[in-house]
Amino acid sequence: MCGIVGYIGNQKAAPILLSGLTKLEYRGYDSAGIAVMENGKIEVQKDKGRVSNLYKIKEIENLQGNIGIAHTRWATHGIPSKENAHPHTDNTKKFAVVHNGIIENYVELRKELEAEGYSFYSQTDTEVIPNLIQYFYDKDDKNDELKIVRAVKNTTDKLIGSYAIEVLCNENPDIMVVVRKDSPLVIGKGNNENYIASDIPAILSYTKDFYLLENLEFAMLSRDSIRFFDKDLKEFNKKADTITWNAMAADKNGYEDYMLKEIYEQPTAIRETIGTRVNEGICKFDELNFTKEYLSSLKQIYIVACGTAMHAGLAVKSTIERMSRIHTQVDIASEFRYRDPLVDEKTLCIFITQSGETADTIAALKLCKEKGAKTLAVTNVIGSSITREADYAIYTHAGPEIAVASTKAYTSQITLLVLLAMYFAQILNNISKEELGNIIKEMLVLPNKVEEVLKSTEQIKDIAKHMFKEKDVFYLGRGIDYTTAQEASLKVKEISYIHSESYAAGELKHGTIALIEKGVNVIGIMTDTNLVKKTVSNMEEIITRGAITTVVLSEEVAKDLNTDIFTNVIVVPNTEIYLSPIITVVPLQLLAYYISKEKGLDVDKPRNLAKSVTVE
Ligand code: F6R
Repeated sequence: MCGIVGYIGNQKAAPILLSGLTKLEYRGYDSAGIAVMENGKIEVQKDKGRVSNLYKIKEIENLQGNIGIAHTRWATHGIPSKENAHPHTDNTKKFAVVHNGIIENYVELRKELEAEGYSFYSQTDTEVIPNLIQYFYDKDDKNDELKIVRAVKNTTDKLIGSYAIEVLCNENPDIMVVVRKDSPLVIGKGNNENYIASDIPAILSYTKDFYLLENLEFAMLSRDSIRFFDKDLKEFNKKADTITWNAMAADKNGYEDYMLKEIYEQPTAIRETIGTRVNEGICKFDELNFTKEYLSSLKQIYIVACGTAMHAGLAVKSTIERMSRIHTQVDIASEFRYRDPLVDEKTLCIFITQSGETADTIAALKLCKEKGAKTLAVTNVIGSSITREADYAIYTHAGPEIAVASTKAYTSQITLLVLLAMYFAQILNNISKEELGNIIKEMLVLPNKVEEVLKSTEQIKDIAKHMFKEKDVFYLGRGIDYTTAQEASLKVKEISYIHSESYAAGELKHGTIALIEKGVNVIGIMTDTNLVKKTVSNMEEIITRGAITTVVLSEEVAKDLNTDIFTNVIVVPNTEIYLSPIITVVPLQLLAYYISKEKGLDVDKPRNLAKSVTVE
């Protein structure tokens, strides 16, 4: 995954492009570059490494041009290097292109172009694009204003794969052409200036009016116009959407890192996600017209997602099952899509994805649609690819999540899915008014309880100080607490690079306990009063073997327990069992964060990871 930015207007382009790239670094950060139109000639500057390297290039500082394109890369084809960094130009240096996505047939295209005498200077899949554009452009005898759009269209006709592309041409120095397919691209409309980016936050400080480009739509931009063309190059009008987020929401707002800011935004994100969905003791999903007849006809519900979003699915599986009495399964999208799953019109398929762009999740959704199932997307990004594919889309309102490690999206997803479970229960008459009322009441105070947890960071910082040099850490829990263990374990490994594993506490005896020896760190999560005795007995077994134990307990569990046996005890407020993962995960997100800080790592951009995995 990569990030792209574009600017066309009257200001100096380079600073705007660099600022946009900095905001898009979560999409990739192994090399970066910009191309600016300088007196009718395209000037390209690029380098290996972070966007900050571009700020050090003197030539970039001197660029005066008002039109430019830029790219921050996360390598897929070709190692991170200056040669492989974007923008790429064609052999005649007439065109410069930045590209986010993957061209699957680039090897064949490259061979075809080489046979025509073209040379290649990088190992990227992208380099075929500017050369194809130049090939079609020079072959076209019609010298009208749409010549460049035609060349781009003829090129995309040859491409198999995904792309969001920006094109500059020194024979048309006052325009820019863009197109997308299966990779995101938005156009921001300014006053006598226009912006392009992979996502809205990158350019939110300049404009609030956006066009969301659909698959195979082309746009030709000048300073004061944006013309849209469909896949057959038929011109059409498009309506701009006005975004209500403010730029502050997409900025660090005084926090040291985005991840910390996003952890602290959880009470707001949960509140916003509940929003107006509960009213007078009833859960409302007006956009879903599910009837009792439809829900009763279902044989099963499938929840499909990746990573943290999949963990959110695990955290609500038993809640959905209990409330709907419909057999519910959770699966990893990359596994699900390749094993001919038993899905038909009697299956409701729910896809959870913060970004709405995860390739495996989208592919799994397409598969379920083909098999006749109804598809429901749970996402945080309005206008994202999945919302255009799914039969229904419901939104978490977590605001932009920039840190690679997901935090507020996870707790918002669980919030929304518990609401959905209650909505199913209402329709199916599976829940009493009283029970529904109690859960809703608890849900409404949940943001305050999360706020309370966020106040006790000193204890967690202290635990992190003792844990950051460890090589391994184990997370244990039973039932719903096991799902938190899974998410907490992922959090610590992805940002602190400590090897960590999560286990259902009862599984320990079946092998893993062999790894427990003096000094090994084990974290136990215990909020389910029905299961706590069992987990405590597992914890005692590992204490006997010399483990250092940290436990996360609800107040109710803590009050009846001899907590002296544990090394560290974190107590969180009581809540309904269905909602407990939303509270118990918070101290463990903080623990992962502070361990990473103790190690001096880049919390927001962990190595080898990108925010959205838009390729397989
Ligand atoms: C981990 C993390 C990832 C994502 C996963 C799915 O902190 O962020 O595991 O949860 O890549 O991403 P989305 O939700 O965008 O589909």
